[in-house]
Amino acid sequence: MYHRRKERGEDKDFTAEELTSCMKNEPPGSPDLAIMSFGKAFHGRMFGTLSSTHSKAIHKLDSIFPSNRTHELVPSFPWPQVPFPQLKYPLEDNMGINRREEQKALEQVEKTIKEWPSPVVALIVEPIQSEGGDNHASPAFFRGLRDITKRNGVLLIVDEVQTGVGSTGTFWAHEKWGLAKGDEPDIVTFSKKFQASGWYFHNDKLIPNKPYRQFNTWYPTSRGMYLTWQDGRSSSRVGCSSYLRRNQETRSIEECPRNWRLPI
Ligand SMILES: Cc1ncc(COP(=O)(O)O)c(C=O)c1O
Repeated sequence: MYHRRKERGEDKDFTAEELTSCMKNEPPGSPDLAIMSFGKAFHGRMFGTLSSTHSKAIHKLDSIFPSNRTHELVPSFPWPQVPFPQLKYPLEDNMGINRREEQKALEQVEKTIKEWPSPVVALIVEPIQSEGGDNHASPAFFRGLRDITKRNGVLLIVDEVQTGVGSTGTFWAHEKWGLAKGDEPDIVTFSKKFQASGWYFHNDKLIPNKPYRQFNTWYPTSRGMYLTWQDGRSSSRVGCSSYLRRNQETRSIEECPRNWRLPI
């Protein structure tokens, strides 16, 4: 939505052709855009997330390569994936090798963004690949990803389903990357131990400029959801995410549990 809004122009309305073609899952209403992910990543098993998952074949078998005849079936989008760095341990004995390994991965990311046949609009990454092994990379690598995505107008989505909510010592693992203010990931996703699932935006430009663009069927029945909807920065099934985000800077992890209340 963000990418197309930029292309369309901030205040432009949808064209009649976009409105009719999206109902048939065809361009220009349903444009050919790609989300890039890393080899061995795990991001889920639905539509886009399955297309970005590369941890185990068993999750992906029988998902369908899209063609004109298979719109109704679970699609597996032909989106790009790049290798995640494979670091050697112990780290202190392999600093040079690991730096080169990460540099190689960063170069591959940028090359793929530039050469992929359809626009790469987002890159999704886990701070620690968990399902796909126990694969780590340095804060410098993640800062490199931020730099590349920013320079190329690609959104950086950080999947904190496994790493978030204090598991690595900070509330979000990406807090350890040393990103400058304003360079935070555009979107952070969470689930499971949050006892909710959803995402929040660091990037205010992602707030939809029209009503009803983010839609959740729980919305009319949950006061919490209603409030996050009004906030426009986040979506969560119980509505506490934006509350936490707004207050994250002033709260420690220890304080969070007793503050996990709906903002009503
Ligand atoms: C890193 C990661 N991302 C995404 C997901 C998918 O989360 P959900 O099942 O809530 O869609 C998982 C599930 O375990 C995960 O580990």
